[in-house]
Amino acid sequence: MTLKDVKVNRGLVESEPAEVLVLTRFEGEPTWHNEAAQVDRALAGALRELVRGGEFEGKANQTVLFHTQGKIPAKRVLLVGLGKKSEARLDSLRQAMGSASKRVRQAGAVSCHAVLPISSIAGATPETLAQAMIEGIALGGYEFTAYRSEQNANPKKLTRMTIVESGGERLGAIREGVRRGLASAEATWFVRDLCNHPSNVMTPTRLVGEAKGVARERGVTLKVLERRDMERLGMGALLGVARGSHEPPKFIILEYQGARSGKSSRARQPIVLVGKTITFDTGGISIKPSENMEQMKADMTGGAEVLATVRAAARLRLPLHVIGILPATENMPGGGAIKPGDILTTLSGKTVEVQNTDAEGRLILADGLAYATRLKPKAIIDIATLTGACVVALGKFAIGMFGSHASLKDQIKQAGEVAGERVWEMPLWQEYFEQLKSDVADMRNIGGRGGGMITAALFLSKFVGDYPWIHLDIASTDWSDGERAYISKGPTGIGTRLLLQYLLDEAASS
Ligand code: BES
Ligand code: MN
Ligand code: ZN
Repeated sequence: MTLKDVKVNRGLVESEPAEVLVLTRFEGEPTWHNEAAQVDRALAGALRELVRGGEFEGKANQTVLFHTQGKIPAKRVLLVGLGKKSEARLDSLRQAMGSASKRVRQAGAVSCHAVLPISSIAGATPETLAQAMIEGIALGGYEFTAYRSEQNANPKKLTRMTIVESGGERLGAIREGVRRGLASAEATWFVRDLCNHPSNVMTPTRLVGEAKGVARERGVTLKVLERRDMERLGMGALLGVARGSHEPPKFIILEYQGARSGKSSRARQPIVLVGKTITFDTGGISIKPSENMEQMKADMTGGAEVLATVRAAARLRLPLHVIGILPATENMPGGGAIKPGDILTTLSGKTVEVQNTDAEGRLILADGLAYATRLKPKAIIDIATLTGACVVALGKFAIGMFGSHASLKDQIKQAGEVAGERVWEMPLWQEYFEQLKSDVADMRNIGGRGGGMITAALFLSKFVGDYPWIHLDIASTDWSDGERAYISKGPTGIGTRLLLQYLLDEAASS
């Protein structure tokens, strides 16, 4: 991540020697907030003039940059719009900072100063405001240049940021927000990199290498099951999907044991995160059309997010017990590949008739989830680029959520609001299981025409027993066709900050 150095300074914003001073404003708000008003005075009314002249309205993500010509120590001021206050969410600020990040860099600056917006945003605290600001600045500057021999035209990167705060009361909360924001942005950055690497590089074997890197963090241990281990255990579903590929499958288990927070002296039940890790999904024998197939290098997003979340939990030293599971393989149509009609015996003992080899995510997750139940978990959360039906139902802006446990669902919904990665609950009604019935096995792996996201979730539910469980379908959000304020074109890493926020909330309440 290029943003390396963030300071929180107590001081007056109009006297900070900034390269660029970033100020936010709601659309149509009559007054500037305190800090901006002081800057405006020092600049002899320049800010008011821009608003009066209609040059800066405060519309969401609008930016106006101007030089201060020595009237204050800051060289330039960047105004960024937050949109209408009535519509403002914490994410409005994250987006504004994403836009600011891009504009600062365009101007050739490598650092900026900013203040927290003074008008409250519903539900936000100084901590979450600071966290969102850092995430916006850090993620707005994301780019993937690993395979470019010529570096891009603008080698300057935003590496330093200072949050200026006039009072002393909120400094501690702001600093904690900065710490969390850096960790969550760094995790998202990691996921985007993992998913941007092509499938000829980011193989299951290479992911084991990445997991070894994570296992260097304090409190983290790594276990990898090889093909022969999977055979011994009876992971017939994962092994079935792997049969069409020359790349050996890997079952990656990363365990993080954080230091205990006082009260819990007995062994803590783990929170188990299971991520779909298909390093490339051709569809197998039920092969996909070639248009946009290259995007299927990101069919490992769930696994990458689990990997990054475990690393972030360790770096933040959360007082939790977290286990990340990545069933990793390619889905290829090689000569040994499974064929429609083949029946696989899963780790749970349940048999599945494979009617479509492109419904492979639920197969590898069946074994991942059954393995999770053996760890006596407090909760299981799986995250997967599971169905095209999720894209059809929810578009780009919501993650599909399923669950069996009301309070866990509420926690995830809440975490999604704070993280700006919102979930939308879908039904997990047994009526839909009719569609998954097979004539020859316990169930089949596709559910026919209607409710494709739901039947996929219901399939998974058969492998989690009675443990509190959440399924997140991120096929809607994992890939962006265009660049947005702090969302990169291509792999977005959406879901990572949701998982991490859930763990942060869990750590605070346990
Ligand atoms: N990885 C895909 C789902 C996907 C589609 C993710 C688009 C991201 C964007 C998954 O393995 C898949 O192919 N699902 C099939 C299931 C069907 C055969 C029941 C689908 O959704 O078409
Ligand atoms: Mn598929
Ligand atoms: Zn897939």
